[in-house]
Amino acid sequence: MSSRSDSNNNSTSNKNYRSRDKKEKKKAFRKQTNDYLCALEQFCRRAQNVDNMLENLKPFSTYNKNDLTLTLSYMKSELFDDSVRDEIFLIFEQNMREMYEKSDVGWIRKEKWEELFDSDARYILARGEDGLLHGFVHLRFVVEDNQDVLYCYEIQVNKISQSKGLGTFMMKVLELIAFYNGFSKIMLTVFDINEEAKVFYKNKLGYVVDPFSPDEEEECDYEIVSKVIKNNPKIDRPKLPEGLTLTS
Ligand SMILES: CC(C)(COP(=O)(O)OP(=O)(O)OC[C@H]1O[C@@H](n2cnc3c(N)ncnc32)[C@H](O)[C@@H]1OP(=O)(O)O)[C@@H](O)C(=O)NCCC(=O)NCCS
Repeated sequence: MSSRSDSNNNSTSNKNYRSRDKKEKKKAFRKQTNDYLCALEQFCRRAQNVDNMLENLKPFSTYNKNDLTLTLSYMKSELFDDSVRDEIFLIFEQNMREMYEKSDVGWIRKEKWEELFDSDARYILARGEDGLLHGFVHLRFVVEDNQDVLYCYEIQVNKISQSKGLGTFMMKVLELIAFYNGFSKIMLTVFDINEEAKVFYKNKLGYVVDPFSPDEEEECDYEIVSKVIKNNPKIDRPKLPEGLTLTS
């Protein structure tokens, strides 16, 4: 028969075991999470490093419709010369300046320039036979909310070429790039006042408000929309550890 102090000792050591066990489980979970996030970062980095995402999408590198005969190319922003940067910025400014001026962030040319031509920026450029730039997409492969995301930083179509299907075509090309590289979703940010673009994403392309989007109480003047990409079983991608949930 054990004495009272024996039973006290037993219960204390049981508690110690339980708490040690809990600590070890937590530690293992933290390690799994950490390993997963590192693997995810590497997964995105590998996609970032690809020189030409259109290499295996040759049938989608031309657009011939509604009087437009365009060739699409994929480029890292660090390869742009000054004239390409100027062309991109001009379309961006013509389309967006007014909206930025009305927004909370305002129009800060230098900041926007730096974002557009950051060394991580990747581009799809749509040019006519005469070399004129009709539209572009600025994209990056990033970890967002513990998920691998193809983030569409910008899609801009020159005013003269809008409503001719080019925006839809370039967004479809993005979906193909995401699918062939095993990415989980495409995400982008849109100003609340940009009604046409919201119609374009939501009604035309099937994007929905992302769980990561600020809620109404946060009083932001933009929303984040996304589209989940069908799983590509051919791609070996990092697996979300059991018990790790995506935060929003
Ligand atoms: C939004 C944008 C990329 C769409 O590209 P697009 O080539 O004009 O779009 P498409 O021709 O493929 O599709 C047009 C559809 O999008 C919507 N739409 C979006 N912008 C439009 C515009 N300026 N004029 C007409 N329709 C527009 C309509 O629903 C339209 O549908 P419909 O063709 O059935 O009428 C382009 O209009 C644009 O560059 N707009 C200014 C910049 C901008 O807002 N970028 C998005 C920032 S988040």
